[in-house]
Amino acid sequence: MKKGLFISFEGMDGSGKSTQIQRLKEYLEKKGCRVILTREPGGTPIGEKIRDIILDRENREMRCMTEALLYAASRAQHVEQVIKPALEEGKVVICDRFVDSSIAYQGYGRSMGNAVEEINRYAVAGCMPDVTFLMRVPPETGSGRIEGREKDRIEMESDAFHTEVYRGYEALAERWPQRIVSVDASGSVDDIEKTIRGYMKGILDI
Ligand code: TYD
Repeated sequence: MKKGLFISFEGMDGSGKSTQIQRLKEYLEKKGCRVILTREPGGTPIGEKIRDIILDRENREMRCMTEALLYAASRAQHVEQVIKPALEEGKVVICDRFVDSSIAYQGYGRSMGNAVEEINRYAVAGCMPDVTFLMRVPPETGSGRIEGREKDRIEMESDAFHTEVYRGYEALAERWPQRIVSVDASGSVDDIEKTIRGYMKGILDI
């Protein structure tokens, strides 16, 4: 039986997810919530090994299906080993990326379409976020923000790929308006934090 709250953060690389995740965690802890912060790909020892394989720039020959299955494999382990047990203990789980990333990056970015949803039905095993904050920045802004740091295999992809990912997120937000909260992430860090807190106050009695 699920008792906790499952929150995921989504968005393009460079959308400012990490800062907001950290701030939300501190805020909820101050309010007395028990919070675990985790991420995908990764979140478990096995998942972190899978992450290294997926993001390794040397793995140029990796096929789309291999990539999609590896993300899903990392997710399956994460759901069973970390997310479900934490929710059962009544914790708030904040996850940096979840299944929407696969739909946007592999489904749209890699043009794999529905296959990605099929694969991930098994991986998530019915465990979906209660709320997802989609940090929206135009693709150019995101790529500008990651300019200068060493890029992983996905970040090295073309502008056309990232434009498709962006389209994927737009489509997801339209499809799941109850779950996905679109946050204008081009504003100041403090304003974005305020918006997110506002939603959280509506969900939790804090
Ligand atoms: P992330 O951890 O957000 O990157 P960073 O640590 O550099 O901020 O995610 C790694 C990359 O993996 C990112 O470019 C998005 C991509 N990704 C997918 O393509 N599919 C997925 O299912 C997930 C979870 C991530």
